[in-house]
Amino acid sequence: MSKTRVFSGTRATGRLHLGNYFGAVKGYIDLQNDPKYDCIYMAVDVHTITTPYDHRTLAQATKEIIMDYLAAGLDPEKAVVTIQSLVPEHVELAFLFASIVSVAKMQHLPTFKDKVKQHPDNVTMALLNYPTLMAADILAYKTELVPAGLDQEPHIEVTREIARRMNDLYGTDFPETKRFATPAQYVPSLTGEGKMSKSVEGSSINLTDDLATIKKRLASCPTDSGKGSTIPEKGGVANLLTFVEIFQGSERKKSYEADYFGNGLRYGDLKAELAEAIFDHLAPIREKRLELEKNPDYVNKVIKEGAEKARAIASATLAETKRKMGFYVQN
Ligand code: TRP
Repeated sequence: MSKTRVFSGTRATGRLHLGNYFGAVKGYIDLQNDPKYDCIYMAVDVHTITTPYDHRTLAQATKEIIMDYLAAGLDPEKAVVTIQSLVPEHVELAFLFASIVSVAKMQHLPTFKDKVKQHPDNVTMALLNYPTLMAADILAYKTELVPAGLDQEPHIEVTREIARRMNDLYGTDFPETKRFATPAQYVPSLTGEGKMSKSVEGSSINLTDDLATIKKRLASCPTDSGKGSTIPEKGGVANLLTFVEIFQGSERKKSYEADYFGNGLRYGDLKAELAEAIFDHLAPIREKRLELEKNPDYVNKVIKEGAEKARAIASATLAETKRKMGFYVQN
């Protein structure tokens, strides 16, 4: 029985946080552990340069993602773990795909519009091509399933459109990729608004933060008087209770809710206890991460071998695509 191909990627913009872990990486781990799937996970550093970035730290930020992946439990014995730019076939395939994608279509994507708003002075060709490159990441491996959040659905829809059009025009056999909604936990932002995100200052806790940092992050989460007849459904208090539920269980959450309706909830105590719970929960990841930091040769080997495995597949797809598109291809 042939296995179902899975691909996903994380942009290389720094360390993984709790939102990445509960929202994505835990799902990646479940899939890698299921023998039905053949998984490829990458730090997508070429996507990182579609918005302003620091060339002095890009390589390090990319490696951080890989080390966090491994510390969290991605296993190179079970899945391919590597860096996108080490598989240059993605960029080449993206250019070929760009020949069948209209500029107008790309300009209308919500993700493009958001980035234009965030970085009005950096509306580049690379940014416009973001979805084309993502389609290349996915289709280079004829990927059927992409574990990713709902916000990625427009990109995966573009990927399906590219696959259909390529197949119609050139007779390729790209699959219609589906998004795989892993049973992810929604991790809210510490600012009280939206989800935890790398790009929102003060919104996140990283997987390897120390206790003092976790306490500091929780301290800045907005609260209220701690008393009342209804608990707000949104904002800092609601988010803190979501964290309590994730890290301390629903019983503890219920007891805080009872305090809120009764004598009052003391947020100082809640935050101190929660910080410890989060810190303890992350202990195995922190330990693994320290071990990896002492073993750069091992990490480099994982990346190198992962790239070799990925290239073997991607180069075959690229050669086939070029041949079907009418290029001169040597055997
Ligand atoms: N666009 C994705 C994000 O912002 C990252 C990404 C790039 C990706 N290529 C991918 C995700 C391929 C899944 C598959 O999170």
